[in-house]
Amino acid sequence: MNPAVALALLRGFPEGGNHQQRLERFYGPQVEAYDRTRERLLPGRANVMGALALRLPDQATVVDLGGGTGSHLEHLGEAHQRLARLHLVDLCGPLLEQARQRGERHGWRHLRTHHADATTWRPSAPVDAVICSFSLTMIPAWWRAVDHAVTMLRPGGLLAVVDFTVSGAHPEAGLAVRPAWMRMLWPTWFAHDGVRLSPDHLPYLRGRLQQEWLVEGLHRLPWMPLRVPWYGWIGRIGTSSTLH
Ligand SMILES: C[S@@+](CC[C@H](N)C(=O)[O-])C[C@H]1O[C@@H](n2cnc3c(N)ncnc32)[C@H](O)[C@@H]1O
Repeated sequence: MNPAVALALLRGFPEGGNHQQRLERFYGPQVEAYDRTRERLLPGRANVMGALALRLPDQATVVDLGGGTGSHLEHLGEAHQRLARLHLVDLCGPLLEQARQRGERHGWRHLRTHHADATTWRPSAPVDAVICSFSLTMIPAWWRAVDHAVTMLRPGGLLAVVDFTVSGAHPEAGLAVRPAWMRMLWPTWFAHDGVRLSPDHLPYLRGRLQQEWLVEGLHRLPWMPLRVPWYGWIGRIGTSSTLH
């Protein structure tokens, strides 16, 4: 692993300061190696972006909350040509700058980057889809980000989420149950780096929107022989005729 990334992960998520300052101190030194290392570290992004791309209408407006460097957005492939606007929102300035440069490199003229908090930034009009790629586990008030995302969607709009997870001991029907050692080890392990795994994310998402697509998997981390649970999920908000 890249030495700057290894050092940042070993040191852990910084103490003190506000959330933005902590994110920038954590990610700032890793920024050059971020994309290379996360390619192997973060599973399922291609699956979820692919499943979302299939469902996006022409001339769609999409918001990406906690979009970081935007590397996962490359998996939207040819759908970029059909996007009217792509808003990437992130609190970490150095990662956001990488996203801006990516947009320039690829000629993504529909990309706008916003240095802002995912729980408060708003588009000027309802949007077709919101993406949260490995961001919910890093947003302290993650449920606020989900609620906020739901309020941005037009009727029939989509929320696409991919992230690490940990199952409950007795999850609701349709969700995977994982061994007790996973439920105990992973939340503690990831919390060191500011990543908060929770059994509540998936049930909360499924309670807020109509589930349209779900995949759950286990991913072998690059530096150890153990596997960590992840999920990809797409939910759709009801159309006005079905809302009361
Ligand atoms: C693990 S990274 C994932 C980045 C990117 N979505 C990806 O898939 O590579 C988590 C991202 O969430 C951002 N983030 C965390 N809390 C945030 C908040 N409250 N508002 C906006 N972005 C936030 C971080 O700065 C970081 O870019």
